[in-house]
Parts: sequence; structure tokens; C-alpha cells
Amino acid sequence: MSNTHPAEALDQRQILSGISAAASVGLRSLTVLGEVDSSNRFLLEGEGFGEAGVHVCVAEAQTAGRGRRGRAWVSPGGANLYLSVLRSFAVVPEFLQGLSLAMGVAVARAMQSLDVQGIALKWPNDILLSGVKLGGILLETSGRSRGPWRVVTGIGINVQMPADAGASIDQPWTDLAAHGIHPGRNRLASRVLTEVILAQEQFVEAGFEAFRRDWELLDAVRDRQVELHDVSGSRRGTARGVDTGGALLLEVQGRCERVVSGDISLRVLT
Ligand code: BTN
Repeated sequence: MSNTHPAEALDQRQILSGISAAASVGLRSLTVLGEVDSSNRFLLEGEGFGEAGVHVCVAEAQTAGRGRRGRAWVSPGGANLYLSVLRSFAVVPEFLQGLSLAMGVAVARAMQSLDVQGIALKWPNDILLSGVKLGGILLETSGRSRGPWRVVTGIGINVQMPADAGASIDQPWTDLAAHGIHPGRNRLASRVLTEVILAQEQFVEAGFEAFRRDWELLDAVRDRQVELHDVSGSRRGTARGVDTGGALLLEVQGRCERVVSGDISLRVLT
């Protein structure tokens, strides 16, 4: 990481002013916190976010940031981007698979709008920069079985990870600063929020099908040998893209199986 670009403080007014007019229409609240256990938990369990529309939380630091597969998300203060977006969907849970992939496309669009080159997605929810993990997305829900479902989309992007915090991450990672990219955290937050909110609208209208081609163009593992780990163990195969619902198509001994996300990790072998 480079210390030549001190991180700017997160600022609610700056973030709001950078969100596009179209995306601002349904925005009901945007909370900026100095520290929180988890911005996902804050919105899902917090008071005052029941009103219809979009609620956002951006935090300087998280003391119990949540990652996929029960992992912690290393969230030191003043360094990176930790944000969550809450809204309700009248969808059945199966749609969440496609929604989570659509959120990856939204983050990639935000990065591209900032001229960040080399962004790709690793199924289901890793954001890669030059092939290494830059960020991740965690969708969590609460709702009645018949809906509507309150869905929080949590996004973590490494901007300028302090070395001591980075040393505690148990997987290869990178940050924007290592690539000489310094978008400013407020501008980055505004761009990500704009694309996420617009993509959620697009998803409600047209489903994952509207994102599938973009997702495939960003797919970092297509036609590569991968190893999947889930509760029942591990298996190897060739990644063959995603189906219309966002399930991974894994070719094993000439046959394609659908892999739905959940408690699964995917390692690229070749
Ligand atoms: C992953 O494991 O790749 C997903 C990481 C998601 C981290 C973000 S940071 C903001 C939001 N709040 C959380 O507690 N987690 C998500």
C-alpha cells in the first residue's frame, strides 16, 4: 500500500451529491457511521429502516464485518469502503442467486465508470482486480416466507489496506492503492451506490437475464479448471459460465451440473 494518499473522511453530503438523480429517487436514508459492528447487521436489525425504498449505511470501520461462509471481513478504520444497501423485494428466495450476481455486475460498472481497468468477477461474489480479490459482496435477508423480503447487499472494497490489517487476511487480496488507483472514497461510494440502486431497479423489471451477458463478459473463471468446496466436500470440474438464474455450470466428466451458491467456495486450479 502507499501512504502518499491519505484517505479522505467519509462525508454524507459528498456521497449524496455524487449519486445520480435517477438513483436518488427511491433513496430514503443514508447513514454514515464512524464505527459499527457490521453495516449489514445495522440495516437489517436497526430501527427506522422499515419504510419502503432504499436505505444505505456506509461505515469508516467495522468491528465484526461479515464475509461469506461465516468468515470475518477485515474492516480497519479510514482505509477501505464498507457499505450496505437495504431494500425490499417481492421475490422468492431463488431469485437471490441472480440478484447477488447482478450486484457484482453493478460494482464492476461502477469501477469501469471510474476508469479502473482489469475488473473481473469470480462466481459467485468476488470482485477481482488483475485476477486478485479486491472486494466481496454479501447478501443477507430477513422476511416472511411469503415476502416481501428485506435484502441487504453488503459490499466491501479494499481501497488502501493498512499492512497490519492486511496481514490478518487469510486469502490473497489486493487494494486499489497497490495499482496506483485513488478514486477518493466518497466518489467511489457514490458511484457504487448509483450503480447498485439502478441495477436493483433493472433486476426487479427484467431479472438476471438482463445482466447475464455482462456477467459472462466479466467472468474470471469461464473454461478454467476449478475446485468447489461445499459442506459435502470438494469436487473438480470445468467452469462453463452461469445459467439463466445465475447458477454456476460446472462440467464434470462431460456432464454439466448446476451449482447454486450458498456455503460454497471456488478455487481456480489452472
Ligand atoms: C466476501 O466474503 O467476499 C463478502 C464480504 C462482504 C463485506 C461487506 S463490508 C460491508 C458489509 N457489511 C458486512 O458486515 N459485510 C459486508
